[in-house]
Amino acid sequence: MTTALTIKMELQEQEQTAEDFRAEALEGLRLPQKTLPCKYLYDQRGSRLFDQICQLEEYYPTRTELAIMKENIEDIASVLGPNCLLVEYGSGSSLKTRLLLDHLTDIAAYVPVDISKEHLLETAYNLKEDYPDMDILPVCADFTKPFEIPECEQQVDQRIIYFPGSTIGNFSPQQAIELLKEIAVQSEDGGLLIGVDLKKDPAILKRAYNDRDGVTASFNLNLLEHINRELGADFDVDQFQHEAIYNPELGRIEMHLVSQKDQSVDFGDETITFKKGESIHTENSHKFSLEDFCRVAGDAGLQVENVWLDNDRLFSVQYLIPKKDA
Ligand code: TRP
Repeated sequence: MTTALTIKMELQEQEQTAEDFRAEALEGLRLPQKTLPCKYLYDQRGSRLFDQICQLEEYYPTRTELAIMKENIEDIASVLGPNCLLVEYGSGSSLKTRLLLDHLTDIAAYVPVDISKEHLLETAYNLKEDYPDMDILPVCADFTKPFEIPECEQQVDQRIIYFPGSTIGNFSPQQAIELLKEIAVQSEDGGLLIGVDLKKDPAILKRAYNDRDGVTASFNLNLLEHINRELGADFDVDQFQHEAIYNPELGRIEMHLVSQKDQSVDFGDETITFKKGESIHTENSHKFSLEDFCRVAGDAGLQVENVWLDNDRLFSVQYLIPKKDA
């Protein structure tokens, strides 16, 4: 058994206050099509529910991405090379990361970046138990905003941004390009290893986002509970229902919370009213063809170097590097 861990661990925090949360939530709820920022799905409870989603039979992305990684790990490790500083965006429970940690040669340090502080710490401690000699430098941050990558003591040959889970698909095309541009700067002398979910039969998609056990529904509804808990709103969570639909024009799954009746919700000094059937749009999950993603990457100044796929072409793991100036 491991006892008291002596971890060289920094916990960097951005100024992410309850006030920001309140302002962003209210801003979205005042729009004609109400929305809420999806990053607030991931409080501690949300992060745990998301871990459960990843294990669902219907939710193919996690297991498919992991299988692609397993199948190609030697190749991936040789493409990335030795002495990597591995920075993971939205690290969650870092499950897929362990494969990289096991196979990369002489990792300089692992920097998990996540918005959920408790979950991040828990994961960092768990990893430290299994990789006692590795520098683990967690950063609690919203990775869409500027944050500092901590100093590392080991020799770094390249900085690799690891961005799995097709989280890139949760941004609008424009936001995705902005974020990838930022990553292109961060990984100037390295690259980006990214998980990208692919277009497929909508029936498979609908199942993945509407599981039988209702875990996805609980995850989505937890957003309202998170707001109640932290901002003292009084959403009657039972009076909203999870809905996930595929929008073929925009190539994305859309997650909504649909009001089951005419109702009003107290939110600080404001009252938000809902008609029966009116929805809060909580999240999008864009699906890409390989060409779609190549274009998005190109617009951000990145070029696709490698693409690894599963046999059914459900999901892709891709390695991108900043475009070399002509
Ligand atoms: N990155 C995940 C995805 O797009 C996030 C996700 C999975 C999600 N299921 C969800 C977000 C349900 C909101 C609701 O696949």
